[in-house]
Amino acid sequence: MVDVIAKKRNGGELNAKEIQYFVDGVVNQTIPDYQISAFLMAVYFKDMTSKERLELTMKMMQSGDQLNLTSIPGIKVDKHSTGGVGDKVSLPLAAVVAATGIPVPMISGRGLGHTGGTLDKLEAIPGYQVEISSKEFIKQVAKDKLAIVGATGDIAPADKKIYSLRDVTATVDSIPLIASSIMSKKIASGTDALVIDVKTGAGAFMKSLEDSIELAQALVDIGKGVGLKCMAVISDMNQPLGNKIGNSLEIEESIDILKNKGPQDVRELVLTLGSYMVVLGEKAATFDEAKKMLEKVIADGTALECFRKMIIDQGGDGRVIDDYSIMPQAKFRIDLPARESGVVSKIKADEIGIASMQLGGGRQKASDKLDYSVGIELNKKIGDPISKDDSLLTIYSNSEDIDDVKTLLYDNIEIAKSASAPQMIYQIVD
Ligand code: URA
Repeated sequence: MVDVIAKKRNGGELNAKEIQYFVDGVVNQTIPDYQISAFLMAVYFKDMTSKERLELTMKMMQSGDQLNLTSIPGIKVDKHSTGGVGDKVSLPLAAVVAATGIPVPMISGRGLGHTGGTLDKLEAIPGYQVEISSKEFIKQVAKDKLAIVGATGDIAPADKKIYSLRDVTATVDSIPLIASSIMSKKIASGTDALVIDVKTGAGAFMKSLEDSIELAQALVDIGKGVGLKCMAVISDMNQPLGNKIGNSLEIEESIDILKNKGPQDVRELVLTLGSYMVVLGEKAATFDEAKKMLEKVIADGTALECFRKMIIDQGGDGRVIDDYSIMPQAKFRIDLPARESGVVSKIKADEIGIASMQLGGGRQKASDKLDYSVGIELNKKIGDPISKDDSLLTIYSNSEDIDDVKTLLYDNIEIAKSASAPQMIYQIVD
């Protein structure tokens, strides 16, 4: 291992055997944490070639279970997001794409820190089961074209170990390490095609557009390198996505989108990611044709019915589609008034996510229990004019003692003389 670390430290290119040796040693626990950490730091500073990235991804993927979805007819298409605040897009997106007949086998995650997780949001629906067996998952996708579940079995155990060490050795924000971590799990999930939503801005992993493009290209290169149909969309995460942040609240907003309502930014992102998914799934030849199909399945209610069916099939209470109050509801709704007149110029996404977490809607550590009912509803977004004392946002809380949350929110929202809304989609990488 010393030789492997030294080779990387000196900027050399590791061969397949050396990468296999490293991954095997991580999984078998024959390489101590200090050598794994030194290796990760060497990668952080010296980067990896495309060949090394692909090799590392494949070896991490092969370190655990792989799902075989070949029994499901059609091109299976999934979506991955690098994570953000208010990002409920997976929920309406999966339903609109499945409504066109494309199988969407979605394996999602939970939230940590300022970001929410799709599984946590779904669990706000009474009865919804995110943990179903691989067999049930495959059966449901084959039948309904749609299932959203948590990972079963042991997907990419090498990544679990490596990620936990990255977290404590300041090596999380390394493009080869992020890309191989994400793609090893996605490839193991057995999808044929993948659209990746790479977030950029204050609330994202990658704060600059340049870094976001580099990460998107790294992800797409790995995907294509293993024969996946793959592309990435770079979208805004300077301010939260949509108006609602919190678990029950984000389910409401997702269902609104499927009812042809809801905020414009969420709709735009759903239609953009969805159209590329439909093209990769070969149900449409062009983006514009795909977009028209999606607008139709939203307008005629097919996508909404698809979502209702999935909820019921996974044990959830389908009445939620028509009655949001069956989800946990917060006791208090507290408005935060603007302290001055002007135009909203900043709503710092990550800090708004932390405010929602402090209300109980997110986790500080993995074992924290969630309060599905709480959250924040933005009444104004960047570029909106506001008068002094008008409500900037509404806090959904089960306690009235929330001065710290109010202070955090005020500290991270700015009002200026003028400002314009940020664009939603920055770039397509394929
Ligand atoms: N998500 C992952 O799964 N891995 C990373 O390294 C970063 C984000």
